[in-house]
Amino acid sequence: MPSGCQHDLDLGPESSFSIDASAIVFGRGALHELGDHLRTLTSGSRVVLFTDARLASLVHLDCAKTSLSRAGLDVVVYDRVHVEPTDRSFLEATAFAKDGRFDAYVSLGGGSVIDTTKAAALYATYPAELLAYVNAPLGEGRAVPGPLPPHVACPTTCGTGSECTGIAVFDLLATRVKTGIASRRLRPSLAIVDPEVTRTLPPEVVAASGFDVLCHAIESYTARPFTSRARPRPFTTRPMSQGQNPWSDLGSLEALRLAGRSLVRAFEDANDDEARGDLLWAATLAGIAFGNAGVHLPHAMSYAVAGLVKGYMAPGYPDDEPRVPHGTSVVLNAPSVFRWTAKTSPARHLACAEALGADVRGASPDDAGEILARTLLGLMRATRLPVGLTAVGYASSDLDALADRAIVQKRLVDNAPCAVDRERMRALFEGALSY
Ligand SMILES: [Fe+2]
Repeated sequence: MPSGCQHDLDLGPESSFSIDASAIVFGRGALHELGDHLRTLTSGSRVVLFTDARLASLVHLDCAKTSLSRAGLDVVVYDRVHVEPTDRSFLEATAFAKDGRFDAYVSLGGGSVIDTTKAAALYATYPAELLAYVNAPLGEGRAVPGPLPPHVACPTTCGTGSECTGIAVFDLLATRVKTGIASRRLRPSLAIVDPEVTRTLPPEVVAASGFDVLCHAIESYTARPFTSRARPRPFTTRPMSQGQNPWSDLGSLEALRLAGRSLVRAFEDANDDEARGDLLWAATLAGIAFGNAGVHLPHAMSYAVAGLVKGYMAPGYPDDEPRVPHGTSVVLNAPSVFRWTAKTSPARHLACAEALGADVRGASPDDAGEILARTLLGLMRATRLPVGLTAVGYASSDLDALADRAIVQKRLVDNAPCAVDRERMRALFEGALSY
């Protein structure tokens, strides 16, 4: 590792890593198993099912409700989850959860729905001001006091991996920046991942969420090594974002191999069951990986890109307000970031490009960043994603505001393989303006 990229090792290097395995049921038709599984997780019978307005009109909701009813559970549906949730929408969902005094939670939807359910379960169980559990420095970073009620997460997009992580992300409206809550206690008790439900996804949603998968995998694989962290005291306080480790490496590379062969196919043809199945399994593997390694700069930067959204209306998403979908807001920064981070681990950056299908024969370490960047840009063009921040409305005059909002994402910035200051962050955004 070149000098200048070394982190402070004064407290003694970490020598162990933790694996928090997720409980998962994966396969076609798995959603029908929901009721039986939830029955084993609670002795109560009052269940709340969180979803959003689009999903409420689809057959998957009926499928989930029927499965719960067959298992003798009483289900109440909350279908007002905000796509790309905010502090306001978290509080509304929490109020509903508090009033209902539910025994168990089900989420049926994308990352927005699953994250909202995590937050509602948390604040209904351990009431506090919203910022109490939010990551520092934007929030107080208070520890979650105890276990949460059972939560079965049923993802319907092939990206976020939220069903496998203890992270809930939202838009803090007052500051126009995304932030989150991170605690192992937030991890769903069980994920039920059914490729059948992705058949109804618009292609643009497949593309945006697919790039979220790719970035989870590449960022986990290129994060700072877990051994570069100081050993925590007490040992139980090891962060979920512990850096690249042998466990996360496995899931990351396999996720990239699957997504590399299937992302474009899944985008082009909703009936390509093999491709959409590949992508959902890749999302699950990448979710397991980044739930134990953590992501870094492209995600830190995405929170600024999404939070400061101008007039960009994302095709395939609800047309109620401008938004840069999460996966799009992440991958827009990724080529710029990997061109810069490649020097910290050229072999790892090349391995990511190769897993995605790039020809890396004869490549030298100096080529690694450019090869990975070009591989991503090729996939973005093939799925008609915006290419560069200018394509979603940003200009040079926005670089300072973007950098200010990204540098405060401490959990993510600290997980980068190189130390990053505010000027470097600005330069990375500048590199992402157009490709
Ligand atoms: Fe993500």
